[in-house]
Amino acid sequence: MPKPELKLVGVETQTSAVSLKGFQAWFGETCVVQDMTLELPANGVTCIVGPSGSGKSTLLRGLNRINEDISGYAMKGQVLIQDSCAKDGFKDITELRAKVGMVFQRPCVFPCSIKDNVLFGVKNKRLSKLERAALVEESLKSAALWKEVAHRLDSPASTLSLGQQQRLCIARTLAVKPDILLLDEPTASVDPTSARALETLIKNLKDDYTIIMVTHDIRQTRRIADNVLFLCDGQVIEMGSTDHMFSKTAKPKTKTYLSEEFCDC
Ligand SMILES: Nc1ncnc2c1ncn2[C@@H]1O[C@H](COP(=O)(O)OP(=O)(O)OP(=O)(O)O)[C@@H](O)[C@H]1O
Ligand SMILES: [Mg+2]
Repeated sequence: MPKPELKLVGVETQTSAVSLKGFQAWFGETCVVQDMTLELPANGVTCIVGPSGSGKSTLLRGLNRINEDISGYAMKGQVLIQDSCAKDGFKDITELRAKVGMVFQRPCVFPCSIKDNVLFGVKNKRLSKLERAALVEESLKSAALWKEVAHRLDSPASTLSLGQQQRLCIARTLAVKPDILLLDEPTASVDPTSARALETLIKNLKDDYTIIMVTHDIRQTRRIADNVLFLCDGQVIEMGSTDHMFSKTAKPKTKTYLSEEFCDC
């Protein structure tokens, strides 16, 4: 019998940005994400939490099909991005990834200037010099980096601090004008001050973008999430509003994980 759809607990009905229908993911013979049917709301921040190896990154990377570059990976079921199937509802994978941008745990800047990093995803677009300059400024401003780099746009991106590099990666993703931002532990490799700056940035972006973010930091989840998806061992244990998950849940596993960061399943 098919599983019932998992709706968010503790929130009004919201428009979905992403729907999963019977989504499963394997590496070789091992099923690492098991039969997920759920909807992630548009706008706001959904934090995906759970122990190491629980399938958070695999799920996140399944949304813009980055896993498919890995040999041995296989998936079943459907991923819908704003009602379009991620597999065949877009002209090509570039169109999907323009709609669903991704930022990784370690900042991955390209060996070129700050400006060219921002423009990387639009280099095949016909834009005038003025339009390019405006896009660089707008994207860097949205990523809260403009003030720090406006005077050195032609410097190599590798000369930025790690926290700045992570904001540059966000600017590069925003320049493509996605609707959905996937962030996989975006603050994990930066210092606490940069992490807080990134949290502020994420909060400022959430009215304009749907942000789906993996984090191990439960206090960070409490500070910035609107909704929380708790995974363990490839399965959804519970999903709901931040208030529900931290204060009202009746599920012992959720209570234990969100208070003690421990799960015994
Ligand atoms: N390329 C791969 N080949 C084989 N197995 C993989 C591969 N990538 C991930 N896995 C396995 O899939 C499972 C889920 O991994 P995933 O990276 O999604 O976990 P995670 O919840 O993001 O963990 P972490 O918090 O440590 O980042 C793990 O058992 C992992 O070992
Ligand atoms: Mg991970």
